Order: sequence, then structure tokens, then C-alpha cells
Amino acid sequence: MAACSTGTLGPMCGIVGYVGPQDARDVVLEGLRRLEYRGYDSAGIAVVADGTLTAAKKAGKLANLEKVLAEHPLPAATIGIGHTRWATHGGPTDRNAHPHLSADGSVAVIHNGIIENFAALRAECEANGIEFSSETDTEVAAHLLAAAYAAAPAGESRLAEAMRTVCRRLEGAFTLVATSALEPDTLVAARRSSPLVVGIGEAVDGSAEYFLGSDVAAFIAHTREARELGQDQVVEIDRHRGLTVTDFTGSVVEPRGYTVDWDAAAAEKGGYDWFMLKEIAEQPQAIADTLLGRLGSHGELVLDEVRLSDQELRDIDKIFVVACGTAYHAGLIAKYAIEHWTRIPVEVEVASEFRYRDPVLDRSTLVVVISQSGETMDTLMALRHAKEQNARVLAICNANGSTIPRESDAVLYTHAGPEVAVASTKGFLTQVVACYLVGLFLAQVRGVKYEDEVAAIVADLRRLPDAVAQVLSGMDEVRELARELADADTILFLGRHVGFPVALEGALKLKELAYIHAEGFAAGELKHGPIALIDQGTPVVVVVPSPRSRESVHGKVVSNIQEVRARGARTIVIAEEGDEDVVPYADHLIRVPRTPTLLAPVVTTVPLQVLACEIADTRGLDVDQPRNLAKSVTVE
Ligand code: F6R
Repeated sequence: MAACSTGTLGPMCGIVGYVGPQDARDVVLEGLRRLEYRGYDSAGIAVVADGTLTAAKKAGKLANLEKVLAEHPLPAATIGIGHTRWATHGGPTDRNAHPHLSADGSVAVIHNGIIENFAALRAECEANGIEFSSETDTEVAAHLLAAAYAAAPAGESRLAEAMRTVCRRLEGAFTLVATSALEPDTLVAARRSSPLVVGIGEAVDGSAEYFLGSDVAAFIAHTREARELGQDQVVEIDRHRGLTVTDFTGSVVEPRGYTVDWDAAAAEKGGYDWFMLKEIAEQPQAIADTLLGRLGSHGELVLDEVRLSDQELRDIDKIFVVACGTAYHAGLIAKYAIEHWTRIPVEVEVASEFRYRDPVLDRSTLVVVISQSGETMDTLMALRHAKEQNARVLAICNANGSTIPRESDAVLYTHAGPEVAVASTKGFLTQVVACYLVGLFLAQVRGVKYEDEVAAIVADLRRLPDAVAQVLSGMDEVRELARELADADTILFLGRHVGFPVALEGALKLKELAYIHAEGFAAGELKHGPIALIDQGTPVVVVVPSPRSRESVHGKVVSNIQEVRARGARTIVIAEEGDEDVVPYADHLIRVPRTPTLLAPVVTTVPLQVLACEIADTRGLDVDQPRNLAKSVTVE
């Protein structure tokens, strides 16, 4: 089995569709370039021109498909679909690349997700004499669609009717987009628990044009007007009749419209070698934007969407923060701040574990889900589990119109702009800042903090963009250090208090980008086992808390640096300006500006991001698209 359609690891894939007067080949390929970060195991495109469907697909990066298209161009067309795939099980082969065609070649389908009952459906198709040409579940949809089309009543919207018929039979999560030679002016798409947005623009000739994308990056170069598709909905785009959205039974629904506030340039590299470097550099702005407009006219904090009453917020007696990967690390930092400011107990859990252990949830539990993409399936499933148990759900999310905020009771958007590099950087820092805002918001609503106290902390938050900019301006030494560490076998990261999640994040970044073994530890845990890993010259990065931090945490970390150095470690110390205690024990000293203890992760994370990025670059690796990974993971 293969494709974006199978497996328990999460594929996500990029999906693009176009209907309009421009040459669909160009629009679709451009969209795929912008979505390649979502998966780069294969790419494919199909167009309908003069009543004929033609397709091309190729394993590997989009460049491979582009080479094929240069040698064997598809005809110019006004309708097209395209796909970039992130494989799970099975080979990323030409055969398994999307689009998949029906046996008679009349229908082409692209897909993201899993059709869980695909084996039974495939057996049924085979019993009807259909031969499969791939190992994917997607191909089932192509054959079923062709059969449903043949059976649908003649007239308009036959392809849409066929899509609804097929969707009613499918189990699992999917975005499906189909085009057919039999209905050459129509594009049809459906979604269940998998992302799909519609863009509506005006072409230079004044006529309407329509775009489909797994996310808005696919079309922001053309339009910012978007329509959000709900769960279990089918969209039909006809060149003449425009856009119609229905549910799977055929009842017409009105999609919610919104304007995308990202601009196209934000999704380009802007002169940097890597998207990741650009996104690291954008962090001061991203933090400032996330903080923008948060204080109301009376100094009160405001979130973006709150569908909860103040009384419901006051009744909360426990908080779970649930997220994956880097977003989970933001949650770990949130725990320190939210507990300190609200005195509500906070548990933090990886989303993929949360619902399987039957967590104790009720209507006075607040579950904070954090997701840059808003589409991570593990997080979405945790959210749905929380809602089934009557818990309240607040989402911290970067992608407007995505599934996670739509299904939550309250939303705080991180205004980081599009994050294209697979490794999250500005997404992470803005998530941390958003978590602080949630903590302060709850403290204020519950009367634990007065508005002036909240305002004082918000003022500290507003100094963070400058602090991050200052860190970024002193990164030459880190680049130099990256060259020295590029051949390391193992790098360890230590921290205490909020520095511990920062150590975890530093280690994750290094693993995923540079493929170097890295681990993050609570500095106090080292003596309970991991210190045995330290050998002569082992690089150990230590995140040092402020000397002003509570209960001599600082002094303890300084002792930990001495301990590892005594065992031969090469110490790389990240410490606040003016902290002279660390100087004798630091082989390399990276300075960050003085920052209140709870807010320090926003500045101490930055050198670790740069370090991982530069080590990966020195090792000649693809920083933006590390092996085996994808940007957002839309199945469990
Ligand atoms: C690592 C990284 C991932 C994501 C995780 C959650 O750099 O980016 O660990 O943080 O897959 O993604 P979102 O935030 O989109 O839910």
C-alpha cells in the first residue's frame, strides 16, 4: 500500500485545483510549488482540454514531474488538478503517484487521507472486473466515481452527484478532488476530516476564477478571498454556473467566506537560502503581530473567537494542553506560566496519547489544543475526544479556516503568517506567546489578576520582538559553532524550569534537520542516568535560567554545567547578559538579553533554531524538507 491514503503514520499531501480562464497547467504547477512542503514523495497533474483528460505523474520531488512535463507537455486547459504526496507504507513510485484514473480514463482523482474501508471496496471493484494499476486506496475512489457517474441521472451536476454517492460509502478521512472528461467544465471536491479551502478570484479578463487548495498558500498569489468547507461537504465548481456547496446528501449549504490576511510574498523565500532562515528572521514581526490588538478599550485582553461565557471560564478547575511535536513543547512552557498566573492545575500531553488513556474530563475542564497548521489529525482527534466528554476546547492556531479552530469553543490565532519550512520556528514562538496570552486571559476573567497586572506582563511581552531581534543580530558565532559541530555524533541539551522544554525543542530541531542524535534533559535528571552518555568532547548545550529566577534554579544549573564539564563535555552555554557565573565553565557562550523568567523561552530558543538550521546546511542537507517528514500530518 502506498500514498497519501494509507497507513497509520500521518501523510498530508498537497492538493491544488483550478477552474478559470488562465492556463490551468501553470496555475496548478505554481500551486504545487507552494505546497511541496506538504509532501515530496511524488507529484502529479491532470487537465481536461477539448473534452479529453490527460495526466502526468512522477515519483520524487516536483522537479521530476516538471522535467517530464518539459519533455511531454500536457495541452493548455482551463481546468486542472495537482497533487504532491507524502508516502507512508509502500514505495513512493510512479504508479502510486496521484492522480489516479478510472479504468476507462474518464475520471481523475487526487486524494489526501485514508479510505479505511478501501479493502472491501477494492474487492467489490475487482469482482466487477476492474483491474487496479496501483496499490493505493485512492484508486478505489476513481473507479467508484466512474461507476456512480454512469448511474447518475443525466443532466447538470452529475459529477457532483456521483461524488456524493461515493462519499456516503467511504469510511475514514479524506479530501478528494475529481475532474472528468465527461463534464469538462466542472471540478468537484469533497472533504471529511481533511483540509480543503476554496479561493475565488477575478482573472485579468474580468471573469471569475476558482482555486482549490489544501491550504491557502496554494492560491494566495491569485486571490485572498476564500471559502471554508465544512465537514462532509462537496463543492462543485462549474465554469459557467460558479460554486455550489452541498452536504453529502445534496442539501445546499452556504460556505463561510473570509479574507486571507497573508500576502503572497510571505510564502516566498525573500532572498534567504531557506524558508526556515526567512521564518527565523520573521520571528520578531510574527510575535508583534500575534500581540497586536489584544488589549481592549478598557485594558482587558481579547481573544479572536470566544464561544464560552465568562461564567464557563470561571468554572474551569483543570486545564489540559494537548499538542504534537514542537507545539507540544510550547504547551510544556505554557504549563509554567498558566499555573503561575491562574493557580489552575495544568497537565500537558502529546495528542496521540491523550484520548487513548481515558483522561478525566468534564464540563469544567479546559482543553487547550495547539496546532500551527490546524489540521494535525492527532490533535484533532484529541479535540473531538475532549468535546465528546463535554470539556471546553480552546485552540491556538496559525491557519484561519482550518479544522481545529472551527471545531473549538474559543480560538486564539497566532499571526505568524505562512510557515513553509517543515521545521516549525515562528509557529513555535508565536504559540508560546499565545499561551502566555491565554494564561493572562484566564487569570483576568477569573479575577486572579487585575487589569494593571495583566497590562504590565503584556508590556513585557511587547518587548519580546526587540529581544528576539537582538538575539538574531548576534548569530555569527552560532554559525561558526555550527561548522565546528557539524560532525558530532550526539549533542545533548539541558535546561531546568522553562529551560527544560527549550532543551527538548533544541534537541528536536537538531534531530529533524541535521539527523544527529540529540536529546533534551531536565538538567537535574542527568545524574540519574544520562550523564553516562558524556564522553570526552561530547557537546552539551545548556539553557541557563536568569540569575533572578526562583529558588536558586540558576545556581543549580551552573553546578550542572560544572558536572558535565568535569566529565569531558564541551559546553555551549546560553545565558543572559550580565550573568558572569557561567563564564568560567562555558567553552562557548551565547548571550541573550535579560528577559523575565517565564518569558525567557522566547529568546533562548532562537539560538537553538539557528544552530540546528546551520548544522543541517553545513552537512549539505535539505533544511526546508527534511527526510521522512511532512509539514502537517493529517492522519493518525
Ligand atoms: C517540528 C514540527 C512538528 C510540529 C507538529 C505539530 O519542527 O514542526 O513537530 O510541531 O507536527 O504540528 P501542528 O502545530 O501543525 O499541529
